[in-house]
Amino acid sequence: MNFYVMTLFPEMIDAVMRESIIGRAVQNGLLSVKTYNIRDYAFNKHSRVDDYPYGGGAGMLMQAEPVWQTYEAICRDAGCDALPVIYLTPKGRTFSQDHAAKIARLDHVVLLCGHYEGIDERVLEEIVTDEISIGDYVLTGGEIPAMAVIDAVARLIPGVLHNDESAETESFSNGLLEYPQYTRPEVWHDRSVPEVLLSGHHANVEHWRHMEALKATAVRRPDLIDPETLTSQELEAVSDILKR
Ligand code: ADE
Repeated sequence: MNFYVMTLFPEMIDAVMRESIIGRAVQNGLLSVKTYNIRDYAFNKHSRVDDYPYGGGAGMLMQAEPVWQTYEAICRDAGCDALPVIYLTPKGRTFSQDHAAKIARLDHVVLLCGHYEGIDERVLEEIVTDEISIGDYVLTGGEIPAMAVIDAVARLIPGVLHNDESAETESFSNGLLEYPQYTRPEVWHDRSVPEVLLSGHHANVEHWRHMEALKATAVRRPDLIDPETLTSQELEAVSDILKR
């Protein structure tokens, strides 16, 4: 999987992508993250890539040409005529686990990080295939959202997570939030680990975890639960919570 990131702050991305699980995946050749500094494709001697918006208004806009030139350079490096481009913007569709899974099936993807007050619409029309927001809040640029997307996608690529870091059991993989987890000691600050987890009875442990995941989801994210799909036992466990 090859990520190409168009940004004014490549060092920000490069530094984070060297660390931890993503850094290991890059080292192992499972993933590549190449950054392209849009400023390197500025066409004036001061390397400016922003200008005032036609029609007036606050802030500066990124010009179309440097963004276009950066995209062309990426296509040349990738040996492709065209590439999918995701623009990180609060105007985009909200990023989700399903979205991450779809991106993980691509061989190449370009992430375009905005700055200033936006980017000239004409280059967006020419190259952008999808727009993603990571939530209903506004950040100073698209770099942190781009890293969030890379991280969420990378951990779905086979081999990126080791067995003890499984992508299957945690929040969202089954449409529910994760059940609570405990490690040693058995009692901490007078709080005991739930008895069932010490029982060694695998089926009971699985059942308890499923019901706890369901309850956690009902409390925190009731929008993720469709009561029509629940068994009568599941419905009984969460109906009071859902009514609140
Ligand atoms: N750029 C600024 N804020 C953003 C957000 N919430 N999601 C994606 N890109 C952004």
